[in-house]
Amino acid sequence: MQLDVLTLFPEWFEWFRTQRHVRNAIEQGHEIRTFDPRATTPLTGGQVDDTPFGGGAGMVLRVDVIDQAIGEIYGKDSLEIRKDRRILALTPGGRMLDDRFVDELAAEPGGLTLLCGRYEGFDERIVQRIATDAVSVGRYVLAGGELAAMVVMDAVIRKLPGSLGHEASAVEESFSTALGGDPEYPHYTRPAEYRGWEIPQVLLSGNHAEIATWRRARSRERGVVGPTAHPPDPAGETAAGPDPFGPIGGGGGAPSGPDPFAG
Ligand SMILES: C[S@@+](CC[C@H](N)C(=O)[O-])C[C@H]1O[C@@H](n2cnc3c(N)ncnc32)[C@H](O)[C@@H]1O
Repeated sequence: MQLDVLTLFPEWFEWFRTQRHVRNAIEQGHEIRTFDPRATTPLTGGQVDDTPFGGGAGMVLRVDVIDQAIGEIYGKDSLEIRKDRRILALTPGGRMLDDRFVDELAAEPGGLTLLCGRYEGFDERIVQRIATDAVSVGRYVLAGGELAAMVVMDAVIRKLPGSLGHEASAVEESFSTALGGDPEYPHYTRPAEYRGWEIPQVLLSGNHAEIATWRRARSRERGVVGPTAHPPDPAGETAAGPDPFGPIGGGGGAPSGPDPFAG
């Protein structure tokens, strides 16, 4: 897959390219290319943004600059490019990235182009006319699209064959089809007992069918309860006694809200 990033800060991606799973993907023939719209801007002095019509703070990335950059990268008009290539405008208000969306992107035959905003963001015509998708990595605001682009690419790259050392690691993961879209079950490693904190005995049983059933049940529980700031112990299977981590926030009172695992 070809992953192209339009960014005013291409050097941010140098570190990303050196990470093991990203290197693996590159060795498998996948590509990560970065393009700085300043290099192709039709404006003088490397200008890429302008003040917003209607007034207000900050600068807005210009539509003509992004249009020209895409045209030069692919040698075709951007309206032609978007017919067979996903062009993702990274923007806080976009479609929220989740595992299903990542699967969709990883299966794209035509490659992905990621547009990183900065300052006040994009001229809306970039999002509406040039991009095929508006993508958000969460309901908060980052200083720029670079980290968001890395989040998207990291999640996509993990799905590409050959990028992870152990292929099975990407199959049975939180939110995957293999787990029915639920979060992953808990993992434990040695020591089996530490400070009186025991691991669920089923994991030491050697009975793979029972372990699989136990894991699926834990995963489903997490799916029902939803995300928790601190997942509780699997009901009654670890050492009895108070929660060694105490209530969230370190206060002395009980955690707020009913304990979904109680009883
Ligand atoms: C400072 S932000 C602009 C925020 C914009 N004025 C707003 O209120 O939505 C600059 C750029 O960072 C990127 N960005 C920030 N937060 C993001 C998020 N949660 N998801 C995706 N991209 C984000 C976008 O590319 C955005 O254009």
